[in-house]
Amino acid sequence: MKRAIVLAPMLALPLVVTSCGDMKDDASSSASFALGDALAGTNAAQFSAGKTAFATSENAADGLGPIFNERGCGTCHQNGALGGAGQQIERRYGTLTNGVFDPLANTGGSLRQLFGLGGFNVGGLNCNSGTDANPAPGATIFAGRLTTPTFGLGLVDSLPDSAFDTLASREPSGVRGTANRVSTVLPNPADSSQSIGSTRVGRFGWKGGVPNLVQFSADAYLNEMGITTSHCFRGTRVSAFATENRANRAPTNAIINGCPDDAVPGTDEDAATEDFNNCAGGVTGIQSDVAAFAFFMSHLAPPPQVAITAGSAADRGRTLFNSASLQCASCHRDDADIFVSTSAGGVPAGVRFHPFSDFLVHDMGTLGDGIGNAGDSVAVTRRMRTAPLWGLRSRNGKLHDGRTTDIATAISAHNAGTNGQGTPAGQAFNALSSAQKSDLIAYLNTL
Ligand code: HEC
Ligand code: HEC
Repeated sequence: MKRAIVLAPMLALPLVVTSCGDMKDDASSSASFALGDALAGTNAAQFSAGKTAFATSENAADGLGPIFNERGCGTCHQNGALGGAGQQIERRYGTLTNGVFDPLANTGGSLRQLFGLGGFNVGGLNCNSGTDANPAPGATIFAGRLTTPTFGLGLVDSLPDSAFDTLASREPSGVRGTANRVSTVLPNPADSSQSIGSTRVGRFGWKGGVPNLVQFSADAYLNEMGITTSHCFRGTRVSAFATENRANRAPTNAIINGCPDDAVPGTDEDAATEDFNNCAGGVTGIQSDVAAFAFFMSHLAPPPQVAITAGSAADRGRTLFNSASLQCASCHRDDADIFVSTSAGGVPAGVRFHPFSDFLVHDMGTLGDGIGNAGDSVAVTRRMRTAPLWGLRSRNGKLHDGRTTDIATAISAHNAGTNGQGTPAGQAFNALSSAQKSDLIAYLNTL
């Protein structure tokens, strides 16, 4: 672990000049940015430091492992520019016990860590990271999760919960999404509305399970890379990300009994010496790497849109996308009054953005991945967040498990059984002429 004590509010920025009040609902409002650029007015030194941290490939001496999926955030998030989507597909599993989801946590589920550091010796003890045993005993449900892009997400993070409730209220009942309210584990100190255990609309990840980018950063650092962190929030220690994962099989723990969790290869510093272990005196602080990742992602500009010429294929495709028969725009939304950033969390206020999502979860029938939290009903496990379509052309794989690179195949897959809220849209798409399909895809390639 790298140490550098930085006190919150670390994500706060001096206010910058933005085009407040200029909420033009056209493709040009973010067109001046290239993929991977910072939002206008971002502190360049802080952005650059965050970018470096995000790009860093870590090794055992930094705390990587003992089990992990990759060595750096940027190793996975890199399509188009650092912070982007990626080819890596994580693996999750679970089962149904008495009709509810069971992540088989005692075997390391639901998220697998595919790699381990292997053996290491400390103080004469032979320690071992354990191996990923696949399939885990008892697992019956398996799902892949493709790496998603992070461009523009600071703007999404800045929206109040009421924005998502308003979006849900505007949706026709047949496709209406659900705001996935979750308990905040690690609040963003720069947003005064957040506190430990307070409820916030989960808006990040394929299933909208995570409420803010600071928490996502600590979660990914631990669960993708095996690097533990502690944080302080108004004098209370957040230790949820301070314990290493066990390997995905009960008899071969990631840390074998007796092998200490401290500054040895593959394990982190002793928890007692970590940054922000001691929160006495009302200290608030986010561990420095986590703060750096969150700053970088929060200040990434949205993907640039391509201008659409009147009468072009993309123009015709836009009309189809917005039509009542296809219903695409009911879930993949671009409401001009909602998608305007606030200053909560430290990004500039007044930036109009175009995510083409409602950040709500929908029952997608058999397209849903069947993965949930312990105790979720089967219906809840089918829920997926409307995939934001901004920047679609810079991504390779499509759908949560990256099953296709073909946009038309991804749209057809919305036709997914009787429970699918996207089923009518998928059927309507399948009924289009091939010329109409290619117009619609031309439009999607401008977003
Ligand atoms: C092994 C590859 C991998 C690594 C390493 C990785 N990620 Fe990710 N990331 C993913 C995948 C896969 C998802 C989608 C996860 C899901 O929704 O279940 C994701 C999703 C995210 C999201 C949510 C974006 C959205 O669409 O809402 C954020 C934020 C994020 N990652 C940040 C990070 C940070 C910060 C790091 C480094 C600490 C990191 N990731 C490391 C693969 C990775
Ligand atoms: C009921 C809400 C809903 C409707 C209606 C809907 N979608 Fe989706 N869309 C989703 C969800 C949820 C996902 C993510 C599904 C998954 O991967 O499991 C998605 C994924 C996609 C993807 C893949 C994006 C990616 O990042 O992989 C595309 C492309 C897409 N939708 C286009 C469309 C088009 C075009 C229409 C209209 C014909 C449409 N959608 C209608 C909810 C909807």
